[in-house]
Amino acid sequence: MLVIHLSTECYPVVKNGGLADVIGALPKYLVKNDIDSKVVIPFVDNTFTHSEELIRVFENSFFFGQDKIPFTIYKNTSLDFDLYFVYIPNLLDRPNVYGYEDDADRFLAFQTASLEWLKTWDKEIDLFHCHDQNTGLIPFFLKYSYQFEKMANIPVVFTVHNTIYQGIMDWDKVRWFPCFEPVHTHLLTWKNSINSTAAGIKCADQVTTVSQSYMDQLCLDSHGLEYVFQMNRYKCSGILNGIDDSIWNPETDFMIVENYAIPKTQKGKMVNKKYLCQLFELEEKRPLLVFNSKLNTSKGADVLERVIEKSVKSGISFNFLVMGKGSYEITRGLELLQQSLKNRFKFIPEEDENLAHKLFAGADFYLKPSREEPCGLGQMYALKYGTIPIVSSVGGLEDTVKSFEEENGYGVKFSYFSVEDILFSISKAEKIYQDKGLLDTLRKRMMSLDFSWTNQAKQYINLYKEVTKNQKIVWESI
Ligand code: GLC
Repeated sequence: MLVIHLSTECYPVVKNGGLADVIGALPKYLVKNDIDSKVVIPFVDNTFTHSEELIRVFENSFFFGQDKIPFTIYKNTSLDFDLYFVYIPNLLDRPNVYGYEDDADRFLAFQTASLEWLKTWDKEIDLFHCHDQNTGLIPFFLKYSYQFEKMANIPVVFTVHNTIYQGIMDWDKVRWFPCFEPVHTHLLTWKNSINSTAAGIKCADQVTTVSQSYMDQLCLDSHGLEYVFQMNRYKCSGILNGIDDSIWNPETDFMIVENYAIPKTQKGKMVNKKYLCQLFELEEKRPLLVFNSKLNTSKGADVLERVIEKSVKSGISFNFLVMGKGSYEITRGLELLQQSLKNRFKFIPEEDENLAHKLFAGADFYLKPSREEPCGLGQMYALKYGTIPIVSSVGGLEDTVKSFEEENGYGVKFSYFSVEDILFSISKAEKIYQDKGLLDTLRKRMMSLDFSWTNQAKQYINLYKEVTKNQKIVWESI
């Protein structure tokens, strides 16, 4: 079976958030299960594309409104799956994947150019798997654009990774769309605009999101898309993401100071913690809590400043390390707090992949107080590294963390999002830390869990089989 993934991120090539980790891992585990998986992303002018070999495999041009735009497809084979870059001069040739004024045009061009190339393939494509809003128009283009008619019968799975970003555009953009019959216009529309996520949901054969609890939430609260999910509920499902334990594994991780596994967890974590504490000049004997996520309100980062300040004032013994980038206000607040709490709190305004591994290995607790969390990978990395997660009971956090107060539980959870509830959870965590026997039991319990893609990829394979069942398919390898 040949599956083409279309995305705007892919670890280790280009990463903005969890989407990259998923696209860097899922295809790899599909390939291991004999699902030939290829990934198509926009070209970025960065270290990866400079240092790795890129082979030019296709060149052509496409109509973007009245303009004829040239594009090139480059292939890279250094990962465990074939990766293709769509290069478009002046649009997809920049150092970052997002953050430009013309992003809507850039991703529109990306989607059109990708299909222009894919329609020329001599291989039979069995399924397209599109990820998030920047590829959300592809299901529509495939089914209703004359120029892609040839691929109209190929089934499409659309995965929603976060409904905060919906790829909303004004109607003037439609002049750049590949031609389609106007009778289908309603499929692009939501609340009087073109909405890429809504179009993806309406036109895909199957829609998935990244946890069951997030799926349940979307019908009730999805930033205005509730009715779209309700109407299409029959083809929607939640499949929890996995983690790539060839990269995120304390036993083999080359980015951490000391590798460890059960039963030598305690020593391993101690050595890694010592390193972190020395690096950031924090006292080693205090419990260490880390936050490593985007600094925005959705991830609950706006309350960090108050939580840390109040914790220290109330006599909680924790040290705090926060790493992340995001809102100016949150960043500024944390910078100021750091100045007044020098020995107890360090703020790293970065997104440093290497350091992230060290944080998961060296910390005692991992805080993820999200207001909403489609899946969240950080808490799963924390579990793997024996770092107790302190999380809100939403989306993927609800599905992956079981409270230590329940039978066989291991994490600390709070149901209501408030500074007080987070503080109360930290005080519970402090009690866990003081009870070395309990701490050790919980660590071992967490580390024995399996949230890997080895398990989770199978759910996608079942879905792919289901979706392609009624199509004209040549089952090559399963
Ligand atoms: C988005 C979501 C996050 C999820 C990731 C990968 O970044 O916010 O919860 O883990 O996508 O699916």
